[in-house]
Amino acid sequence: ASGDSFPAVVVGSGYGASVAALRLGEAGVNTLVLEMGRLWDEAAADGRIFCDMINPDRRSMWFKDRTEAPLDSLLWLDIVNRDIERYPGVLDRVHFGEMSVYVGRGVGGGSLVNGGMAVTPARGHFEKVLPGVDSGEMYGTYFPRARAMLGVNSIDTDYFGDSDYYRFARLARDQAHNAGLSTVYVPNVYDFGYMEREERGDAAKSALAGEVIYGNNHGKRSLDKSYLAAALGTGKVTLRTMRQVERIEQGADGGYTLTVKEIDENGSVVARTEVSCTHLFLGAGSLGTTELLLRARDTGALPGLSPDLGTGWGPNGNIMAGRANHPWNPTGSKQSSIPVLAIDDWNHPAHPVFAEIAPLPAGIETGISLYLAITDNPERGSFSLDPATGELRLDWRREQNAPAVTAAKSLLDRVNRANRTEYRYDLFGDDRAFADDFCYHPLGGCPLGVATDGYGRLRGHRNLYAVDSSLIPGSIGVNPFVTITALAERNVARVLAEDVVPGLRGA
Ligand code: FDA
Repeated sequence: ASGDSFPAVVVGSGYGASVAALRLGEAGVNTLVLEMGRLWDEAAADGRIFCDMINPDRRSMWFKDRTEAPLDSLLWLDIVNRDIERYPGVLDRVHFGEMSVYVGRGVGGGSLVNGGMAVTPARGHFEKVLPGVDSGEMYGTYFPRARAMLGVNSIDTDYFGDSDYYRFARLARDQAHNAGLSTVYVPNVYDFGYMEREERGDAAKSALAGEVIYGNNHGKRSLDKSYLAAALGTGKVTLRTMRQVERIEQGADGGYTLTVKEIDENGSVVARTEVSCTHLFLGAGSLGTTELLLRARDTGALPGLSPDLGTGWGPNGNIMAGRANHPWNPTGSKQSSIPVLAIDDWNHPAHPVFAEIAPLPAGIETGISLYLAITDNPERGSFSLDPATGELRLDWRREQNAPAVTAAKSLLDRVNRANRTEYRYDLFGDDRAFADDFCYHPLGGCPLGVATDGYGRLRGHRNLYAVDSSLIPGSIGVNPFVTITALAERNVARVLAEDVVPGLRGA
């Protein structure tokens, strides 16, 4: 098939991709964004764009026959998940041998499905993880820029103190304090002013109607409403959806040619086309970017790529667990889907943990306090391609999560001891207290300064860049999207100034 040509192509439309698209557009560079998922901007027959968590339908998941929610049972009953029609829904759970990874699919990537927690890492930890990056510049310029563009805001503490929808968080906070632990408010991209209007009955409910992980119909400033709206507003950025980039090659002139698979709602291939470009920005996420690059290297299309490609992967120390509360301590049948508090025990000498106090908006009193613990697990996995099938593999063994479980347990044991409570063993399909086999925060595969130079330029091939979570080597200590965004701002600014704009002038 014949194709077309752009000075710049961006693959994916998550955080890194959106930053690249906006800054390229602002610099006057004609840019094409290719996203494998849908554009989520039209209401379905029920008047809503997204479905909720309690009654999920085909919009929930990316071509699955059944939903695969993180908590898959209550009282060991298989009552959480639902059979659904296969459809390009918004949340995907990608299964590797001993780890599965949640990712968003659609224009906005993970921003469509995530909890919106917008956390800037502790500076000392950032410097440890990315020692090659000037932290003065990051904390002085790029973190503030990212937060402003993303629309980060904080909950009004009086509202938090009063709302029935945050009873669950106040209870978990008090229980943490009983154990001598400290809690912090966590900023978010959900508009808390909107949430207060939801509570007053002045606006359609979203956070207060249990919407999250399968999308929010209102209130959340996902990337399609922030960075991507601004990118399209430059008039220089073209967006094409339901287009999966399958293959990257480099021509004799140094330009790149992409093979793009276009699918329909049934997942059938409508067309395979080619697009060429001078500058190629990969923002397909830790899994997507690493897979494209490994395939290009291993098939000989981009033979110069680093032998270290695929390394430095980690689940950001993610461990989920629930505690059982006494009947006299209800968590409330009303729960906001947007988390606003975390137990911050990152300075613990042996077991640093940043534990998000997570909602469980089931619409009934569950008696559960739920946590997503981010730990400092030093274990790393690596990606490779199966030589027989060509499929992406993740070399990560379940036991590699043992240090993360130990850390999460050490923290929550203290909470249990202080409050005379126990774990819940009925939430993860068997009788485990700690979910150690899935993550929300995949990081790495194309580590900054290892598979790339210090700014995300892939080693071995010119004008080729990784801009997303694949750059961060496995862990950042907090929820990652603010870091992904700020790092993309820093890297793209450099690449634009040094590689892209001079080329345009010369052309
Ligand atoms: P991201 O994954 O966002 O986007 C990649 C995009 O590329 C996707 O839209 C995908 O469809 C597309 N793509 C992939 N391969 C492609 C191909 N070959 N061709 C075309 N398109 C392709 N973080 C946080 O900081 N706070 C939080 O509260 C949460 N909560 C949370 C909850 C849940 C349920 C999830 C799944 C994740 C979170 N996260 C989070 C994590 C956060 O969302 C995640 O780290 C970022 O979205 C990663 O951003 P990237 O830019 O790397 O890509």
